[in-house]
Amino acid sequence: MNAGTWAVLVAAGRGERLGSDRPKAFANLGGRPLLAESLERLEASEWIEAVVVVAPAEWEEPAILLAEEVGAGKVSSVVTGGDTRSASVRVGLAEVPEEAAVVLVHDAARPFLPEDVLERVLLALGEGWDGAVPGLRLADTVKRVESGAVVETLDRAGLFSIQTPQAFVAATLRRALAGAGEALSDCAGYVEAAGGRVTVIEGDRRLVKVTSRADLELVATLLDAQGSSA
Ligand code: CTP
Ligand code: MG
Repeated sequence: MNAGTWAVLVAAGRGERLGSDRPKAFANLGGRPLLAESLERLEASEWIEAVVVVAPAEWEEPAILLAEEVGAGKVSSVVTGGDTRSASVRVGLAEVPEEAAVVLVHDAARPFLPEDVLERVLLALGEGWDGAVPGLRLADTVKRVESGAVVETLDRAGLFSIQTPQAFVAATLRRALAGAGEALSDCAGYVEAAGGRVTVIEGDRRLVKVTSRADLELVATLLDAQGSSA
């Protein structure tokens, strides 16, 4: 089922908003580096053939050791990331062989990666889309605010917040990212800008992106809850 599906795990960010003494991927989550969680989940997934880890400069060696420690034998290479997320994805993508039909890009900053979300994005891709991403319908009202003043209240209908893992036809993602700049915060945006058709499947609230300390604590609680129910 995994024939030709490679994962690029982007972990090269600095984690400035978390404010730890190390990059976010190595922040302490339940006694081990945060990166361990997504590495293990990709390793265990029947949908994934191989994994490229994009690490922060000077943290390549710790990333390799961590992959060994958690038994992540699918990790084919650990490469050094770039200045932006897009640059890091490009570096990772360059390590994915041409034969790989599908690429799944995942943020290491989202440690709680359920297998059924992986399955949903990959099955959707199989239906003929160029990309498939997990999303959650917005529950809150959304307003555009400038200098403290509300300038617009958006119609919430049809608005989603988008997560990773994001799945793409490999050749389409390569084309979309080639020379396309650095501005966008997710890969799907590049595919959309290049005219690709991207679908949204049901995400998972537990796929929160660790940005602040509070997020880290929330994910630690989620992992605990999962551990005690397993
Ligand atoms: N990322 C990356 N290379 C970059 C920037 C981000 O690989 N130059 C990765 C991060 O490691 C993370 C994901 O992209 O897994 C989402 O980025 P974000 O949550 O913004 O993480 P950081 O950039 O590390 O955090 P901050 O913006 O607070 O510094
Ligand atoms: Mg960032």
